[in-house]
Amino acid sequence: MPKKIRLGILGGGGDSLIGVLHRVASFINDNYQITGAVFNPDFDASMEFAKEIDVPLNRIYKDFDTLIEEELKLPKDERIQVCSILTPNFLHYPMAKKLLDNGFHVICEKPMTTSLAEAKDLQKSHEKAGTVFALTHTYTGYPMVRQMREMIKAGALGKIHKVDAVYYQGWINTIIHDKEKRSSVWRLDPEKAGISSCMGDIGVHAFNLVEYTTGLKINELLCDFNYLYEDNKMDVDGTVLIRMGDHVKGVIRGSQVATGEENGLAISIYGEKGAFRWEQERPNFLYKLSDTEPTQIYKPGHAYNSELSLDGTKLPAGHPEGIFDSMANIYKGVARAIRGEEYNDGEFPTMKDGVRGMNFIEATVDSHKSGNNWVALEN
Ligand SMILES: NC(=O)c1ccc[n+]([C@@H]2O[C@H](COP(=O)([O-])OP(=O)(O)OC[C@H]3O[C@@H](n4cnc5c(N)ncnc54)[C@H](O)[C@@H]3O)[C@@H](O)[C@H]2O)c1
Repeated sequence: MPKKIRLGILGGGGDSLIGVLHRVASFINDNYQITGAVFNPDFDASMEFAKEIDVPLNRIYKDFDTLIEEELKLPKDERIQVCSILTPNFLHYPMAKKLLDNGFHVICEKPMTTSLAEAKDLQKSHEKAGTVFALTHTYTGYPMVRQMREMIKAGALGKIHKVDAVYYQGWINTIIHDKEKRSSVWRLDPEKAGISSCMGDIGVHAFNLVEYTTGLKINELLCDFNYLYEDNKMDVDGTVLIRMGDHVKGVIRGSQVATGEENGLAISIYGEKGAFRWEQERPNFLYKLSDTEPTQIYKPGHAYNSELSLDGTKLPAGHPEGIFDSMANIYKGVARAIRGEEYNDGEFPTMKDGVRGMNFIEATVDSHKSGNNWVALEN
């Protein structure tokens, strides 16, 4: 068994939402050791948390710049190899850029940056660095999402003609209707979150899922947002019509005010020979629909699944795979890439997906603000 990869964590402190998902995911396949961190901008809080979860205190740094400076002083075989960026959005770009410029591998949360210009600049740093860059569009790690991708690639649906992706949540309802609250969270602050809330935070996952599963690119879109209040600068709901080439059309629906919805990401893909339907809240069931045959249900861990799908299951069929396993599959692919082993390009989203995602987010904002015009993506 090769030695564990030395992992640094930026953000993701005890007070965060996503930190635990990355920590557990990095642990699941025995590939990583958390070696150092800046969990929190408050050094004492970072130290406290490091004590709680047993990370060496001499590798907890007061801030990100100090982490880079001190780690570079260490011999290469002791130094952190890859850093996971789990901070609010506006820190992704400066942190990822400095990490790449200093030869580190990067695992970055979405949205990759706060603008397309930043994303393109990061791409340049990545090309120069030649290290691994992964973007954690978590849902691509589910075995049944991978199965959809592989079956579509093998022609199971024939020519695709319609895609419907939806990502509905309701949690912003607890914040948006209170003037004080809605001006105090980072997700609704353009300085910290970027130009979009709903499309930037969750619509971009749906966008990525559409391109990941169909293998097609979205060429043009038309978007209509709802901000709910005049003083709210960020979209909290949006509907996006998409054109994906020769008679392939669809819709991406996103909402953070879909009352009562939890994490309702779902996709339906319709083709001339059949259709797929998959829902994130029931991730172990992939439905294959047909006009002439009974509906089929594909499930993880069965030998009928593709190699890529089976690589993402650890136990025999019947043991449910969840969000932690999905993120763990992304970390597993990244470990292979860092070690220079062979891997399938469906194992983790990359810099290219990050640039596409930022192009999508900016296009939705441009479309809405220009009076709901069609906007072309840079393909
Ligand atoms: N992949 C997914 O499905 C998914 C889900 C949720 C969040 N996210 C993304 O993860 C990122 C974090 O989201 P969250 O919900 O965990 O946010 P959060 O506000 O809950 O946590 C952010 C963490 O970053 C820390 N932090 C802030 N500034 C820092 C700094 N300068 N240095 C070090 N740490 C700092 C905070 O202390 C906190 O621990 C966002 O970019 C978000 O879009 C992705």
